[in-house]
Amino acid sequence: MHIWGINIYSGGLPCSTTIKRKVKPMLGFKSFDGGNVVGLIFPVYYFGIPEIVRRFIEKINLEKSSYVFAVATYGKGLPGGGLSQTKKMLKAKGKELSAGFYVKTVDNFVIWTWDVTPEKKHKSLHEKAEIKAKKIADIESKKSIKYDRSLMEYIGPVIFNYRGFLKKVKSGDKKFYSTKDCVSCALCEKVCQVKNIKMSQGKPEWLSKTCQRCLACYHLCPQNAVHFGEVKRSRYKNPYINIKELTNGN
Ligand SMILES: Cc1cc2nc3c(=O)[nH]c(=O)nc-3n(C[C@H](O)[C@H](O)[C@H](O)COP(=O)(O)O)c2cc1C
Ligand code: SF4
Ligand code: SF4
Repeated sequence: MHIWGINIYSGGLPCSTTIKRKVKPMLGFKSFDGGNVVGLIFPVYYFGIPEIVRRFIEKINLEKSSYVFAVATYGKGLPGGGLSQTKKMLKAKGKELSAGFYVKTVDNFVIWTWDVTPEKKHKSLHEKAEIKAKKIADIESKKSIKYDRSLMEYIGPVIFNYRGFLKKVKSGDKKFYSTKDCVSCALCEKVCQVKNIKMSQGKPEWLSKTCQRCLACYHLCPQNAVHFGEVKRSRYKNPYINIKELTNGN
């Protein structure tokens, strides 16, 4: 996930990682002062905004912000309500979403019927994401108004039970477990940006408190020892992002 914007686990946008570095201190929502330009970069979950991003948008002080843009990354499906929900939430705070963009990335959602995007498509996805990132930067620098749309903006979240996801996600980690291949390196604990994993007697324990279902623990375990129920799917480690960038501050 990217800026807070958000980046719980990186999906492939070099610009998001850069933005993440700038905004990481905002994690914890302590005293973020909106500034003139605010960018929100986050992945689409269940056709909508991740739960923690919603909380962030609710709390962020945008009084001084004259230009708020959002970038929603998505996988093989559709981004659905990623931007329309952002627009609505900002409106409730008396702010306009000045620009909003969708960026297709490698799909890391593996716990339903899909697998990670086939490897042969990764290069082209990364290249296209980079081109789009440059366009976004250009539009943002000119402070232009631009707004990507998606199919199923409103019906998508209903079909995918987005509300149900929001309600249950924080404690929805009960199917995670580690196998005997675990070597007690604690990387899963470190990459969990919401501190939902605690090492206990050399093994990860999922705390059912703050999980966002980002799947960083699943994808990034060097031993492939983290599993989710019966899921037997591929794992994806973004080649452009150093694992340290995802563990800083943890
Ligand atoms: C819990 C979860 C739900 C997702 N839901 C959708 C979705 O509704 N539509 C879609 O196209 N991609 C979906 N994805 C894929 C991600 O949006 C995509 O892989 C994203 O770029 C991941 O960004 P990140 O690596 O920064 O987390 C989902 C991924 C996760 C982990
Ligand atoms: S990242 Fe994998 S190997 Fe390391 S502690 Fe977690 S489960 Fe064990
Ligand atoms: S426990 Fe795993 S899936 Fe849940 S937020 Fe942490 S890293 Fe993401």
